[in-house]
Amino acid sequence: MTEEQTKSQQLHDRRKNIVANGVGVFNTATVSKAKGAIITDVDGKEHIDFAGGIGVVNAGHCPPPVVKAIQEQAEKYLHTSFNVVTYEPYIKLCEELAEILPHGDHTKAMLISTGAEAVENAIKIARQATKRPAVICFTEAYHGRTLMGMSLTSKVNYKFFSGPFAPEVYRIPFPNFYKYHGTQNMDEFVETELNRLKDSAHSMVDIDSVAAIIVEPIQGEGGFNPIPQKYMEGLRSFCDQHGVMLIFDEIQSGFCRTGHWASWQHYGVQPDISTYAKSMGSGLPIAAVLGRGEIMDAALPGTIGGTYIGSPVCCAAALATIQYMKDENLNERAVYIGKIITERLEKFRKECPEIGDVRGLGAMIGIEFIKDNDPGKPHTDLCASIVKGCAEEGLILISAGTFKNVLRILCPLVITEEQLNKALDILENQIRKHT
Ligand SMILES: Cc1ncc(COP(=O)(O)O)c(C=O)c1O
Repeated sequence: MTEEQTKSQQLHDRRKNIVANGVGVFNTATVSKAKGAIITDVDGKEHIDFAGGIGVVNAGHCPPPVVKAIQEQAEKYLHTSFNVVTYEPYIKLCEELAEILPHGDHTKAMLISTGAEAVENAIKIARQATKRPAVICFTEAYHGRTLMGMSLTSKVNYKFFSGPFAPEVYRIPFPNFYKYHGTQNMDEFVETELNRLKDSAHSMVDIDSVAAIIVEPIQGEGGFNPIPQKYMEGLRSFCDQHGVMLIFDEIQSGFCRTGHWASWQHYGVQPDISTYAKSMGSGLPIAAVLGRGEIMDAALPGTIGGTYIGSPVCCAAALATIQYMKDENLNERAVYIGKIITERLEKFRKECPEIGDVRGLGAMIGIEFIKDNDPGKPHTDLCASIVKGCAEEGLILISAGTFKNVLRILCPLVITEEQLNKALDILENQIRKHT
């Protein structure tokens, strides 16, 4: 430590000294308190939060009713383990989730603590329901850092020297229209990609041994890539034809981010099983697996669960978050914010050829940077410079994509228009400065 260092720099030095190197740092910001869309760092400087704790604070930092619900529940009881002593907040949350995210006539749910656990359990349930071992996933996918999560995750950077990975995991190309359509129009591209999917049943894995296909309807870490509508429909019929469970991973895209409780609701295509976490609990660790009742019930007692399956305090936080999201119309607000961001960035893009694409759903928006107008040439360094420049100017941003060349906007949906416009001014200035 030196005297000229800010408190934030000192904190980062201490972090470097004591925290394992593998726990990555995406931004230089620190925090002493946070409210709405603003994070105040340990030096008292305010930052606008466009990262939202990686998509966790769609309802904003510390929404008052959520904080109150946490306090009230903490005074009643903290833990009994739902396996041992039944409590109502767990049941009420499952009822609420089934109401806003119906999977057929009778939806059932289970709760856990993290997104990766939700994915693990979704796969276990699909395997038990089908009595089949294999799972198909996609390139550019991200499903967490547990063994199965990592095995399903595409990006190699997350997995260096971490194998051997789980067996019976097969990967097919994600239908990334922007990057790979070449000279094809959308219909032609989707047809090619669906043929590739069908071929995989002959060239990759016996489809009768496949329990599930897991996919993010709009990829998060992979660079905010939405699945084309017709591909989604084709995927559903392919699964129906072969008795394969279709699992949607909504961990990053859920809870108002795209303008719906889940992004699959844009498509009118229902999953058999789906996973949620992040913004569901406004920062408390809570996750859920939802599915059609008969599928969820196929998992035998004792095969899914754990000590911390839906802590009562986290359930209270999630219930208050959902109510707050309804009261504040955050689904509508996501669409409104998304429109402001997209319109501004689309306009700005005309003066900046390095912006290859601005895309997304609702307020889940990615900006892809490329070189030479070529989607095959990611501009990773430019993206990193913009993130750094924005951090210095008080805007917290993070990147995404296999090559870290996509800026992703995950701001709290309660952000004011003034804060939003200020953040976009900073972003545009930094893009200008570095191009
Ligand atoms: C789509 C998706 N699935 C799974 C996960 C893993 O969630 P967690 O980090 O809570 O384990 C993430 C986290 O970013 C995610 O975006």
